Amino acid sequence: MTEKIRHFIDLNYFSKNDFRDLLNSCHQRKKSKIRIGKAEVDDDACAKDKILAMIFEKPSTRTRFSFETAMYQLGGKSIVVNSNDMQLNRGETISDTARVLSRYVDIVMLRTNEHSSILDFSNSSSVPVINGLSDLSHPCQVVADLMTFEEILGPIKSKVVTWFGPGNNMTHSWIHAASLLDFELRVCAPKEYLPNLEIVEKARSDGANIIEIDDPKEAANGSHCIVTDTWFSMGDEEDRSKRDVLRQFQVTNKLISLADDNVIFLHCLPAHRGEEVESQVIDGPHSYVWDEAENRLHAQKGIIDWCLKSN
Ligand code: CP
Ligand code: NVA
Repeated sequence: MTEKIRHFIDLNYFSKNDFRDLLNSCHQRKKSKIRIGKAEVDDDACAKDKILAMIFEKPSTRTRFSFETAMYQLGGKSIVVNSNDMQLNRGETISDTARVLSRYVDIVMLRTNEHSSILDFSNSSSVPVINGLSDLSHPCQVVADLMTFEEILGPIKSKVVTWFGPGNNMTHSWIHAASLLDFELRVCAPKEYLPNLEIVEKARSDGANIIEIDDPKEAANGSHCIVTDTWFSMGDEEDRSKRDVLRQFQVTNKLISLADDNVIFLHCLPAHRGEEVESQVIDGPHSYVWDEAENRLHAQKGIIDWCLKSN
């Protein structure tokens, strides 16, 4: 990281070492939180006297609650606003909004339709900006996913993570992660809905081991982690032809049985049982989706702490 303000926009902005440090600090915060009350402030109270603003252009359950709880536990405060209730909705520019909020709060989290809005905001903000999901990426979620992987299966180095379903914001953040941690990322997506080619090629040139496999059985074979997401991201049109194309990429018990014996199943949630995943899988013994959801909280805390350490 060379910039003075520590924006958390995408995982591939990190060096391998800086990202490892961030992940370790998220693990550490979780370990130190055992048996402590949910509203109790962590010993270091690293967000004491700090305010986080959160602006949502799209719905959220986990991101909203985990960030707000994280700020309680770090000793700070948060303000949450739906962008429709802001002057943004009446044409005030993103950059003017960023300049104003920078005078009130210490850190801003944005969930936007367009990734460019996060970039525009961060370019005019004098406080750190966190990407809480855009159409392009969802880096906070993948930090929580990596935490979950490592606490169940140990170091991810040389392991196999397999993505099933359409390329989307989650896939892109997994692809970024693959350029930072040395694991094999298999992407099993229909040719009509592959991840962004530029992101794949850039990650490969950064050393990521990404393998595109269109046969679900071949992709599942020996996987240590199987991950999927909704077939229709927020803002996508739900059409029957896409659903038909994706049907063979559903994560089934059959696919799980082809994977490593200790395979873990992850899903960022919300899930659609009977679409991207069979209920026997998400509610079965290989599923760690509730740990994964919990880890959003611990991950946000590590991310907020990292951002607040801006020079
Ligand atoms: N996984 C995730 O980001 O969930 P929310 O949309 O509920 O925040
Ligand atoms: N790909 C999903 C993730 C939801 C957390 C979406 O963008 O809706």
